[in-house]
Amino acid sequence: MKLKGKVAIVTGGNSGIGAAIVLELARQGANIVIDYRSRPEATEALEKQVAALGDCAIGIRADVSKLADLQMLVDSAVKEFGRIDLMVNNAGVETRTSVLDTTEQQYESVLAINLKSAFFGTQLAARQMILQGGGGCIVNISSVHEDWPMPGNSAYCLSKGGMRMLTRTAGVELGPHHIRVVGVGPGAVATPINEATLEDPQALKKLNAAIPLGRVGTPESIARTVAFLASDEADYITATTLFVDGGLMQQSPGL
Ligand SMILES: NC(=O)c1ccc[n+]([C@@H]2O[C@H](COP(=O)([O-])OP(=O)(O)OC[C@H]3O[C@@H](n4cnc5c(N)ncnc54)[C@H](O)[C@@H]3O)[C@@H](O)[C@H]2O)c1
Repeated sequence: MKLKGKVAIVTGGNSGIGAAIVLELARQGANIVIDYRSRPEATEALEKQVAALGDCAIGIRADVSKLADLQMLVDSAVKEFGRIDLMVNNAGVETRTSVLDTTEQQYESVLAINLKSAFFGTQLAARQMILQGGGGCIVNISSVHEDWPMPGNSAYCLSKGGMRMLTRTAGVELGPHHIRVVGVGPGAVATPINEATLEDPQALKKLNAAIPLGRVGTPESIARTVAFLASDEADYITATTLFVDGGLMQQSPGL
């Protein structure tokens, strides 16, 4: 077990990639605070699955776009488990709107949920880690779109581009405290966030064909990467992003 006795917070932890991360961290021996915004029944089911693996998870309903809620997550981890070793900034949304179409409300909501939450999640977790004596890991679930433009999803790309620099800047700043900050950049993964594509056979065929490994990824592949990065096996990796995308970003446009 790579993470025996470690304590983690996973934001947006009751669905898709977040839920897979919760289960993989538990398999590796961690205790977990599961942040969620809706569907308490999904959180309860996860708590039971984690308990069956011999670890402990508590669900806390919190809106990560609000600082007070993020502080509540950190306080809950400390109250329940005594410390924090790993913060996974995973919660995210997209609007699939272009530069021309995006409204002020859409812009503010995407940036607050995807980027502001990761910035202050990093800050509050790092303060607690330093208070404990230093050491720890922060994983930002970014996207290939931290580098790669996605026409028609402009605010999302902007938020992930910001996360790219958050990972690098915070990684450099927090290095002296032995806190590693790492980005994980998934390609296309089968989760509720891209339900529309997954349910359209033509769109799915086209997407699979664009991926060198020939298929959409699974949340479990992302989760195993997070567990590795959070472990001592990755003790020299910081201030960078690991892409988990089946080769998507390196594909040749066919020229
Ligand atoms: N699925 C993909 O193809 C893919 C690709 C690249 C990156 N990602 C990233 O992975 C992360 C997880 O997405 P997913 O694919 O599992 O989709 P998902 O929709 O299943 O998960 C997103 C989670 O964020 C939560 N959330 C949204 N707003 C919140 C808020 N204000 N407070 C707390 N939680 C909130 C949702 O409730 C949900 O649990 C996101 O950051 C997403 O950008 C996903």
